[in-house]
Amino acid sequence: MRHVLCLGLERMFCKAGSGPCANEQTESYAMLVPSHIARHDFASHDLVQSAPGAARLAQRVDDQMHGLRNLVAEMANVLQSGADKHPGRLGHLLLQTRQMVHNGFRVLSEAGRLRAGDAAAAAGDPERVLAQTHAWTQLTQRLHHMRLDLNNWAAVETMLRPQTDGKRRPLIEPLSKLPSTAETRELVSDVLFDQIHGLLNQLTQSQEVLDNGGFADIPLAQSLFLRSVHAAKRCLMAMQKHDDTRFLDVGCGAGIKLMSAAPFFDYCDGLEFDAGYVQLAQSILRALRDDSCQVIAGDALEFDNYDTYDVIYFYRPLREDALLIEMEQRIVEQASAGTLLIAPYRGFEHRAEDLGCAQVAGQLWLVGASPRMATQLRRAAEKTGTDVLLAPLSNVPLVWDPLIQASLQNGFAPKMEARNMYNQHNA
Ligand SMILES: C[S@@+](CC[C@H](N)C(=O)[O-])C[C@H]1O[C@@H](n2cnc3c(N)ncnc32)[C@H](O)[C@@H]1O
Repeated sequence: MRHVLCLGLERMFCKAGSGPCANEQTESYAMLVPSHIARHDFASHDLVQSAPGAARLAQRVDDQMHGLRNLVAEMANVLQSGADKHPGRLGHLLLQTRQMVHNGFRVLSEAGRLRAGDAAAAAGDPERVLAQTHAWTQLTQRLHHMRLDLNNWAAVETMLRPQTDGKRRPLIEPLSKLPSTAETRELVSDVLFDQIHGLLNQLTQSQEVLDNGGFADIPLAQSLFLRSVHAAKRCLMAMQKHDDTRFLDVGCGAGIKLMSAAPFFDYCDGLEFDAGYVQLAQSILRALRDDSCQVIAGDALEFDNYDTYDVIYFYRPLREDALLIEMEQRIVEQASAGTLLIAPYRGFEHRAEDLGCAQVAGQLWLVGASPRMATQLRRAAEKTGTDVLLAPLSNVPLVWDPLIQASLQNGFAPKMEARNMYNQHNA
């Protein structure tokens, strides 16, 4: 199982009842309707003679899609160079696109009338009937795909609109600012996670780890963990680290935090000293068929690969302060500048400055950085959106794909409300 949050777009696309099914792998629109054939056919003199309505509509579809592609390319450029650097430009392009989508629906609405006209003109001439039937069958596929593109505009617009406001969205809201409803929900799921953790890990800590000053598998509250992980992922986005993002949980116990981090990062590793916990976490991950997470058996005080991670999380694996400090020093010495640390326990904040780490927000720290650099990073990350979970593009290609790709890299995805509205509308 790969922990990706599907945007649910496939379902949306198939709901249009027109495009290929989600499991049909099509590489491009051109594969659906080879455009050179279609264009050649529709432009040919014979076809213009035998199905003038189809030829006219095909030309208008081509013009429409060409215009949309140009707008999409321009908007994707703006998004890639940072929407906030071009205030107003994205909003302007958005308005133009909305108008063009509106025109597109008008073009589609003419199909029935033009087809009836071609049929009437061909009546009584079997060869011409055949030619115009063939032309309309081909064109219908293109119309279906265009409708699919246009129908998805509403969802794409909900993704683009918030990128025009230049607003900052806090990395971690203080608990006091959470709506009381959300606070209650977090509390309930924290208790539930604790219970599930208790059920999953009924092992007692091995004597070896206890003798070496280790803590047992005591979980950090799930909601606190997710806050920091979410903030860390937005920082990576602000740093333009989009690919092969790597997360490490030092002392992962049964591995619940690994699984929780999996939707955010490409690879999640857990380092664990207790052999029983290692086996348990491995068997849980195997059962989930999660190949993005792995458990490494080893001692945090001897591990040599801290430099290969973008985000390192450690929730006090060691009881004794002296050992904990030794581990912190080892991590920071090895980790590259720009690595993010999540250290949610008392004491780290007093040592952070000496370790060359600066606070970004909450329990999130930046290695090899001054407070000014950490503030700059926080500000940049606050400009990213909050939709940070790994999400594949739909396997049905759409004219909007470059926009979706660029927006996802900035933390903005098509919104749920639009999807729901769309699904209700098409039910
Ligand atoms: C407080 S629990 C944290 C569990 C989990 N990471 C979480 O946040 O919910 C500490 C974990 O660190 C492990 N541990 C203790 N000493 C360790 C060491 N020297 N190296 C690696 N892991 C260690 C323990 O076995 C335990 O699973």
